[in-house]
Amino acid sequence: MSTYTDLRFPKGFLWGCATAAHQVEGNNTNNNWWQWEQEGGHIKGGDVSGIACDHYNRFDSDFALAQELGHNAHRLSVEWSRIEPEEGQWDMKEVDHYRQVMESLHRHGMVPMVTLHHFTNPLWFERQGGWLNPQAPDLIARFSGFIAKELGDLVPFWFTINEPMIVVIGSYLFGAEPPGQSDWGAAMTASRHLLQAHGAMYRAVKESTSHNPQVGPVLAMLYIEPYDPNSEDDRNAAQLADLLMNEYFLAGIDTGTLGPPAGQGEDAPGLKDSWDFIGINYYSRHRMAHDQPLDTAGLPPPDAELTLMGYEVFPEGFYRQLMRLKKYGPPVYVTENGISTKDDTQRCRHLLRHLAEMHRALQEGTDIRGYLHWTLIDNFEWTEGHQQWFGMVAMEPGTLKRRPHPSAYLFREIARGNAVTAAMLKEYVG
Ligand code: GCO
Repeated sequence: MSTYTDLRFPKGFLWGCATAAHQVEGNNTNNNWWQWEQEGGHIKGGDVSGIACDHYNRFDSDFALAQELGHNAHRLSVEWSRIEPEEGQWDMKEVDHYRQVMESLHRHGMVPMVTLHHFTNPLWFERQGGWLNPQAPDLIARFSGFIAKELGDLVPFWFTINEPMIVVIGSYLFGAEPPGQSDWGAAMTASRHLLQAHGAMYRAVKESTSHNPQVGPVLAMLYIEPYDPNSEDDRNAAQLADLLMNEYFLAGIDTGTLGPPAGQGEDAPGLKDSWDFIGINYYSRHRMAHDQPLDTAGLPPPDAELTLMGYEVFPEGFYRQLMRLKKYGPPVYVTENGISTKDDTQRCRHLLRHLAEMHRALQEGTDIRGYLHWTLIDNFEWTEGHQQWFGMVAMEPGTLKRRPHPSAYLFREIARGNAVTAAMLKEYVG
């Protein structure tokens, strides 16, 4: 029997959900993912993003729902391919659309936290080689400066690139995501350009507005361990995977250089300390064996609790990754954490166990300022199509009707009370 106490969070803590344009808006026809979906054979069940959650039209009622569910912040992305449909051409109608989106968030009492790039590339950018193009950092920095200037009065937080190293492995190493390449050299080229792009975007946003925006990265901090800690090969494999997935970006921004495995310590202008905060996405532990690829399920132990994605539920890894960020200095925002499940009680337990680990890291000195759950409404889960259920709010296929799960109300109680109570832990964690 555990005895629990209430876990209180600091005053002003941000609570909300995270989404991404392509996964929720619908009809993002002008980007590389849309094209990839149409090609067929890439997405589970032949699914396409299609109308998605029709959030492009329903944002106002979705934000009213989020407000009703107690949120005081919301992470979302702007769709580059809508705003810059052709190179150097700005669609002011879309800019106005996003202005209305940000105004709606303010009206509903939520702080807008905006991602500039969440996996999708405009077709024109993709045609120029996407992340392999040496011009990529300049092209996306120009877009970032433009939109930050347009919306700077409404957006206090900007995220540069969502999970850059997931882009690298998904698109250039394991070939599951557009453009479907599997080439170590290409992956390293993309890694260098993504890190340079982050620095360039940071500077572009900072210089574009006088509203003193906070700008930082969003990193997918997989917790990586050797499959067999007694095997030197597995330990080396885990170390290399961690270097690629976690350390490369952290050390890169910390030192301002392109380090291993993608660089040799070259200086990247504007990169050093290009973070006002660190955004961390945490889902799982990955156990690395030297003879297995860095696959996303990560070899969970046989008795592990799994999510529908096949991920191991491993809350302690969340604590460890949060502690790892402490030494860098900038405050930390949890920009994603969540679970795909059809069992909402599992979601409640998962949420509470992760918040308890987050609280432990906070107690031990990591300056954590907010928690954005993935996600508000069931949505288009990339190569998994519409066949994953991450939402605290379910969406009925066909009618697109939103139906909050009990976890959405549990989260409301946490957000409103700014605490996880002992009673909640007792009920769900036991
Ligand atoms: C990612 C993205 C999200 C996903 C979420 C669930 O981590 O891949 O940021 O777009 O939908 O993580 O897998």
